[in-house]
Amino acid sequence: MNNQPVAVLDSGVGGLPYLAWIKAHLPQERLIYVADRKNFPYGEKSAAQVTQAVLETTQLLQDRCQPKLLAVACNTASVVALEALRQTFSFPIVGVVPAVKTAAQVTKNGRIGVLATRQTANSAYLSQLINDYCPGKSVFRYAASDLVELVESDFRPDSPEKARILGRWARQLQEADVDTVVLACTHFLHVEEDLKNLLPPNFQLVDSRDGVGRRTKDLLASQGLLAEPEDSAQSLDKPDLFYFTASVQWSVELRHDLEAKYAYFAQRFGLQLGGAWVL
Ligand code: DGL
Repeated sequence: MNNQPVAVLDSGVGGLPYLAWIKAHLPQERLIYVADRKNFPYGEKSAAQVTQAVLETTQLLQDRCQPKLLAVACNTASVVALEALRQTFSFPIVGVVPAVKTAAQVTKNGRIGVLATRQTANSAYLSQLINDYCPGKSVFRYAASDLVELVESDFRPDSPEKARILGRWARQLQEADVDTVVLACTHFLHVEEDLKNLLPPNFQLVDSRDGVGRRTKDLLASQGLLAEPEDSAQSLDKPDLFYFTASVQWSVELRHDLEAKYAYFAQRFGLQLGGAWVL
C-alpha cells in the first residue's frame, strides 16, 4: 500500500483524457497533473530538447510531489524520452505507444492515417511500429501542429478556427481514403468527437488510453503500490491537483490568462488548480 500520488505529465492539456481513465478506474488514487507549458510545444522541438524538458520537469515533480508512478501522457515525450526517464528516476514510468497495432487490427480497407506532432510523425519509433504491425497496409503520417496549437490555445466550443482546421483535416483524411485514424497526440482526444462528426460513419478513431490506463493499474498492483481507500473526509482534504510550468520571463497577464484557462480544464476533469511552477 502506498498513498503517494500518481503523476500524469504532458506539455499542456493533452494528458487530461488519460488522467480521466486513471481517475475513473482507480478512484482511491491521489492524482497530480503537470502541464509543462513552459516547454510547449514538444512536437516542434528536437528530440534532445524534449528529453531535457521532460527530465527537468520530472525532477521538479519528484522534488515537490514525490510521485510513486509517472504516466507520461504524451506521445512525443514517450517516443523520444522514455529511456532517459527510466534511467534517471527509480519510480515506475508508463509511456504512450501510438495505437498503430490497434489500428492495424480494426482497419477494413487496410488504409490508416496517423495524426501526430511533427516530432512523432517523423520518428524512427513510429516507423518501427508501422514496420512491425502494418505489413501490407498503407499508412499515412500527418504532422498536425496546427491542431495541437488549436487545442492548447483556443478551446471555445464554437471557435470558427476549430471548424476550419478540423474541416481541413477531415477532408485530407477522406482524400487519402483511410478508414482508421490513430490519434497519436494526446491533445487530439479533446477534439475527437468534433472530428468524428465531420467524417463518414465508417471511420474509426483509435488512441492509447486503455493501454496506458491498464499498464498503470497493473504496475501499481504488481509492485504493491495501490493506495489504501480513504474515507471521504480524508479524500476531500487531498484533492487531485493541476500544476503548470511557467517561465519567469512571461508577463503577469500571460500567466493569469493561462491560469484562467487551466482552471477551466482542471474543473472539467475534477481537479483543483495547484498553480504555476515558475522557472
Ligand atoms: N500532447 C503531446 C503528444 O501527445 C504533444 C503536444 C506538443 O507538441 O507539445 O504528443
